[in-house]
This record gives sequence, C-alpha cells and structure tokens, in this order.
Amino acid sequence: MTPDPLAPPGDLLQQPFTPVDPARALAFDDVHRRYPALAGFRAGLGRTTLLDVPSVPGGARIVAKCEWENPVGSIKDRTAYALVADALRTHGDRPAGELRLLAYSGGDLAAAMSSLSTVTGVVTRFVLASFSPRSLLDTLESRGCPVDLVPKERGFLFTIRTAQRIAAEEPGWTLVFQHANPVNVAMHEATTGQEILADLGDRRPDLWLASIGSGGTLIGVLRALRARFPEITAVGVTPAESPYANPDAPSGQQTYEGSGGHGHGIRQPFVKAYDHVISAHEHVTYPDAFRAMGEFFDLTGVRIGSSAAANWLVAKQYAARMPASSLIVTVFPCTGSPEQWAELGR
Ligand SMILES: Cc1ncc(COP(=O)(O)O)c(C=O)c1O
Repeated sequence: MTPDPLAPPGDLLQQPFTPVDPARALAFDDVHRRYPALAGFRAGLGRTTLLDVPSVPGGARIVAKCEWENPVGSIKDRTAYALVADALRTHGDRPAGELRLLAYSGGDLAAAMSSLSTVTGVVTRFVLASFSPRSLLDTLESRGCPVDLVPKERGFLFTIRTAQRIAAEEPGWTLVFQHANPVNVAMHEATTGQEILADLGDRRPDLWLASIGSGGTLIGVLRALRARFPEITAVGVTPAESPYANPDAPSGQQTYEGSGGHGHGIRQPFVKAYDHVISAHEHVTYPDAFRAMGEFFDLTGVRIGSSAAANWLVAKQYAARMPASSLIVTVFPCTGSPEQWAELGR
C-alpha cells in the first residue's frame, strides 16, 4: 500500500467517526428562525417513494427509495441541508455575508448546495472533477458559485485534497467536509432510514445495500434499520475501478457516479466504523452500470442514474440467491445527467 503523499496533517478523511444523537445533531430551530427559506427547503425534503423494482424470476423482492424526488433532484439534497444548517449554526448570528463555504463534490452535493446558497445568501465555492457535466457547471455559474475544476485523471481523492489545500491556504473559506461531519450520517438516520421503516410497515427487510460515496447513506440508514431489525445484513457497493479500501493509488478511470474508494488504503470514516457489521463489498464497472441505466429504463420507463443502476445490479445478484419471500432494500440516488441519457439514446 502506498501512503497518500497529499494527506494534510490531522487529515479529516482519516479521523475515526463517532456517531451522534440525530435529535441533538439536527436541532436547527434557531437556524430556521434566522433563515426561514432554509426551513422551507427542509420541509420539501424526503418522503420519497419506496418503489417495487424488477427482480429476477423466483428471487427476493427488491424495493428502492427514489431520491430524485428531493427538491433539487438527488439524495444529496438531504446531506447538503444538514451540512449547510450545521455551518450556519456554527456561524451563529453573524451576517450570512460573512460566511463563505467551500465544498468538494462528485456533482450532486454541489447542485444541492448551490441551491441552498441562493436560499441562504451564503457564497459557496466548489471543487469538482473536470468530467463534471456541462449542465451542472451552467447551473453553478447561474447561481454565482465559483468553481475550481481539477483534472479527472487524478481521481476523486485529489478533488478532496485540493479543497483541503484551498481551505488551508485561504482561511476566508470554511470547508464543509461531508466525509467526516456526523450530521451527514444523522440526517440519513433520522430521515432516509426512518422513512424506509415507515414505508415498510410490518414488512421485515433482510438486506440493505447502498453505494458508498461518503458512506453517509449506507451507514445512516443502517443505523436506523438495525435499531428495529438487529439481524439485517448490510452490503456496500463501490465502482470496480475504484473499490472501497483500495490499497493502490487512484487510477482516475471513469466510474459510475457519486461513489468510490479513495485509494491508498483509505477507508471512508463512517464505513470504517461499521466494517465489522458490513457483510460484503460488491463492485460494479462503469460500462455495466451505464448499460443497466438503459435496461432499467426499457423495463420500467423510469430514468435512474448510474449509481442507482449499480445498486440495482447488485440487488438482483443477491435476489437470485435469496428466497422469494425475502426483501432487499436499496436506494436510487438520482436520475443521471441529460448528457448520459443523450449518450444512451433514450
Ligand atoms: C449519485 C450518487 N450516488 C451515491 C452517492 C453516495 O452517497 P453517500 O455520500 O451518502 O455515500 C452519491 C453521493 O455523492 C451520489 O451523488
């Protein structure tokens, strides 16, 4: 294993994670009073559909939470709300104009946080990889958000390292660190996870599986589900080109969206804290995920993004090995970009 030469001292990406009580971590009443539009955004979050999706003949049932129904269009709307509200709580009653946020993103977090920047008036700057779709860059520009593009060949870890370097060199920017802030997990535990429990009613889930970006979704929902179903199995999904805990340096190959290991043996802190609970990590190539977007659309008429398609492929593999009476729960983070659908010709 090669250590990461760009890791800063006290690297947040490698700090141990301790879960927090969601009720306290997400106590944002004062922030909502100061920023009523943020309370409006919060009210529009969640309550997304838990959809029955095609499985394999004779296999387990599969249900997926349709996260594109969130206000800006992805699961990251939940994360963005929690991270921004937390930053505003820390900022206290000083004017919003005195706070300038900086975030690295695979794309969806930037879309959501840029919308929140218009809602709160807080200038927000993004570090993104150079493969970011034109449609996203146009949105960020129209919302007045500065963008630093880093070469996609360096992998997502370099995007994170660049944001850390900017925060160290330019102290006027407050770095929002999605991989370490416990409100990320708390938000999924309190909303995504609780909504799934409510949607399931008296049905017992046997397996929860989700693609890992920060791991906030996988671990937050797992914490909620395990509180009621301690025996539930959990599986993580990452790109085959960039798997969880990959010991090598990042390859920079194209991967399905929003997810992936960092290389150099680095494990996302939220996931690392639950390594003993996660029964397996499965891997999906970009070509397979991309093809599955088209296949799912042809079967259902519903557009799912490449990370959703990766989750669906893994869910079907498990469904084939499980009894028909079993239930697999997964998540569909987004619909994919207009550019991807144009390439798929659908
Ligand atoms: C499209 C997509 N899928 C999956 C994920 C994984 O989310 P999390 O950061 O909660 O692990 C993300 C996060 O960026 C995403 O954008």
